Amino acid sequence: MYSLIRKALFALPPETAHNATIAALHFARNPLLNKLVKSLLACPTGQAKNVMGLTFPNPIGLAAGVDKDGEAIDGFAALGFGFIEVGTVTPLAQDGNAKPRQFRLPEVEGIINRNGFNNKGIDHLIENVKKARFNGILGINIGKNKITPIEKGKDDYLFCLNKAYNYADYITVNISSPNTPDLRQLQYGEALEDLLQSIKARQQILSAQYHKYVPIVVKIAPDLTEAELVQLADTLRRHNMDGVIATNTTIARENVTGLKYSQEIGGLSGKPLQQKSTAIIRRLQQELQGEIPIIGSGGIDSVPHAQEKIEAGASLLQLYSGLIYHGPALVKALVKNIK
Ligand code: FNR
Repeated sequence: MYSLIRKALFALPPETAHNATIAALHFARNPLLNKLVKSLLACPTGQAKNVMGLTFPNPIGLAAGVDKDGEAIDGFAALGFGFIEVGTVTPLAQDGNAKPRQFRLPEVEGIINRNGFNNKGIDHLIENVKKARFNGILGINIGKNKITPIEKGKDDYLFCLNKAYNYADYITVNISSPNTPDLRQLQYGEALEDLLQSIKARQQILSAQYHKYVPIVVKIAPDLTEAELVQLADTLRRHNMDGVIATNTTIARENVTGLKYSQEIGGLSGKPLQQKSTAIIRRLQQELQGEIPIIGSGGIDSVPHAQEKIEAGASLLQLYSGLIYHGPALVKALVKNIK
């Protein structure tokens, strides 16, 4: 069934196909339709898992960037995900980069995107989150506006943290998108120390204010050297971060040379990222020794490759490109088989 839908979607430009999917799944928030989708797909509930003090109904999640504005949370929930991460959201709405900004590399089941955090802003997202009925775990992924100078980036994260805190089960600090100028600088040295210190201090204030502790995770790039990764792991540990997502998209192109669109600027995801992100998870786990849970993301396209990430040290997994290439059947297979 999905092969037919995929054929229709792949006849459209990637972003048009994406918007059509979001619109369809937005519609599926209607309770009757939602029930129908659920019963048609018949995804099992899966095996619950306790991570970061939260009970995930199953360890399979929707990665950030799919539902940036939280328009289709209940529709995606009907596919069987145990957790859904909305965003990346910024304080103010912004258009993102000029189109076209998404490219399919079907030969290798890859995608290149340079969206640049197109989103309708944190207030709009929160209104959508309030309306959602999803009873799994909801993550809100936060970033900075393009117009905010990088030295003031911290203010944008704190702004979004304040707004999102009471509505999220966990919050992701995205410092690894390649599509916002200089964003990845926040992964290093003083800038990282300062950002994490401020975020943890604010978390403490907010947890007293709302009488609940909302875990904060950091999403990292796959393009770090080993020394940078070791340093980053040490910083995450010293600041008692609650989790880490490994990884975002890559700026490398080693697995896609010669393919159409391979030289487009942006982040590459999907199968060409698979082994690179698993290697990062493995090395991170060696450093963190289970002290900080790892959420694995990057090229998950099957049960064996998902299992590989679990064995490398991931406690939870997230999908984006795999969902586009393999559809809801992949979610079902993963929920059924991954613990
Ligand atoms: C992304 N990703 C992403 N990540 C993030 O933290 N914030 C975002 O806004 C986006 N936006 C986005 C758009 C598009 C078109 C793609 C393909 C990806 C990265 C995504 O969440 C995930 O970490 C990577 O794509 C790796 O997983 P997959 O796609 O290989 O399963």
